[in-house]
Amino acid sequence: MNRDYHRLMKFIKKLSRLIVTRNLFHVLRNKIQTSNGKKHFLLPRPLDTKYGVSGVINSILNVLPKRENYLEVGIFKGATFQSVIADNKWGVDIDPAFDITKLPRNTTVFVNSSDNFFAELRPDKKFDMIYIDAEHTFVQAYRELVHSINHLNNWGVILLDDTVPFDSVAAISDESESKREAIRVHGSNKWSHQGDVWKLILQVSELHKELVVRTVLGPSRPRTIMWRNGLFGTKMQSAPTDKLASLTYETAFAQGIPKEFGVQDLSYIVAEIKNRKFAN
Ligand SMILES: C[S@@+](CC[C@H](N)C(=O)[O-])C[C@H]1O[C@@H](n2cnc3c(N)ncnc32)[C@H](O)[C@@H]1O
Repeated sequence: MNRDYHRLMKFIKKLSRLIVTRNLFHVLRNKIQTSNGKKHFLLPRPLDTKYGVSGVINSILNVLPKRENYLEVGIFKGATFQSVIADNKWGVDIDPAFDITKLPRNTTVFVNSSDNFFAELRPDKKFDMIYIDAEHTFVQAYRELVHSINHLNNWGVILLDDTVPFDSVAAISDESESKREAIRVHGSNKWSHQGDVWKLILQVSELHKELVVRTVLGPSRPRTIMWRNGLFGTKMQSAPTDKLASLTYETAFAQGIPKEFGVQDLSYIVAEIKNRKFAN
């Protein structure tokens, strides 16, 4: 009885959210699409603006001087992307897991590798916020970060996923090897992969001191937030990455999350972002 009541309440809550956000028809259409083996469409309006990763992104967008242009590098099914509240949303994915033939009004999707996307992007195109969540390797994520900083407004903010591995297995850079090892060590298919994106934080703290680095521990897993506090108007240049090549997860995380990650509560970070002063 109690379980049925909770299930009913959950259903009513979900239904009312779909009605309030005017997504009900689109969710039903997606159910038909996917039951016919087709890919779903992105929802035309944000579904969940306060929770999950989109909650983190939206709370930052809410305190920026402008939230006109958002970029997501690695969109997958679009779960985060469709709930971001920016005026114009661009996303790039090498293989998006949704139907790109009918996109919401303010949305542009590039089916491309992030390397090609940035190579073809107009140099003066600027974003207010960029979420980097594609391949989980240090070298690739570093390339994406450098490009992203060079396409960010002065007040712009970057969010990086997968910066704190769950354990040494999740931290194995090669995704297939990490999966094989997860099955061997944990005996389970339930596996998450964060690779060696964590090295990016150490690289930035050592070599790009004009970037502020903050990490939030949730929701679901840690993510890192960065913004520029100097060298505005200059182009960020990549530095060699080989110094960190031999550093292991076990060594770097022996005492827990390294101080360079700047772990803080989201509310503290949002206040820091909000209170920045700009000359113009
Ligand atoms: C973890 S998923 C993204 C999840 C999404 N950001 C979200 O919050 O729901 C990673 C995505 O990155 C894409 N991807 C991987 N490597 C890429 C690359 N080099 N360039 C562009 N997209 C890439 C994959 O196709 C996949 O859809």
